[in-house]
Amino acid sequence: MRIERLKKTNSTNEYVKKFIKNKEDVIVVADEQTGGMGTKGRSFISEKGGLYFTKLSFYNNFPASESWQIMAGAALAVVKTLLAFGIQAKIKWPNDIIVNGKKICGILISNSFCSQNIDYSIVGIGLNVNNEIAEEIKDIAISTKQVLGKELDIESLLLTLSLNLSAKADINEYRAYSAVIGKKLTVIRGENIFESVAVDILPDGALKLENGELLYAGELNLKIKI
Ligand code: BTN
Repeated sequence: MRIERLKKTNSTNEYVKKFIKNKEDVIVVADEQTGGMGTKGRSFISEKGGLYFTKLSFYNNFPASESWQIMAGAALAVVKTLLAFGIQAKIKWPNDIIVNGKKICGILISNSFCSQNIDYSIVGIGLNVNNEIAEEIKDIAISTKQVLGKELDIESLLLTLSLNLSAKADINEYRAYSAVIGKKLTVIRGENIFESVAVDILPDGALKLENGELLYAGELNLKIKI
């Protein structure tokens, strides 16, 4: 697959859109982003030394009802990549990757639908590697450099991640790496804040709480209680 390397761009998730008209699968990687985008309209600090990666993929007959596969596949690919470099990470549902309770990687996905199918997806992955963690997020973010006490080769990480992203997601594997199953959570849904325990993740990606309620990824915030 074509991999395009950029020194600097506003956002690899935006840049990759120029390949949509050719219906071409492509990976775009930038050394830094000036307008890195996060979930829920937040920005994603993207200084030099991190891995800022976006994959554009086109599909044939991929049912929209299985969009969860894309999210789970991306999260698992990151966890397995980190493991290959000696880091044990977990998935904070739906797709934050955490190590020692701090976020090491964020994933931002947008899918484009054509009737009942997914036409293409844009999967953006921001991994803190050798970059310094900005002061304002020091309490909640971590880098591979901090975990390992040494720098990693970004090219090797990029190749491993690209390979791992081609695997199909397995829900059992996803569950095995979950940071939330069995944990007490504070769930923030709009004005509504409540506590519960996560008991399972269902094959459609829903997070099941002990009261039987099902949560779907979206405008939702979870805090894991220690
Ligand atoms: C989040 O945790 O809020 C998601 C962060 C996603 C960041 C990545 S970095 C590569 C790609 N380009 C972007 O602008 N965002 C994603």
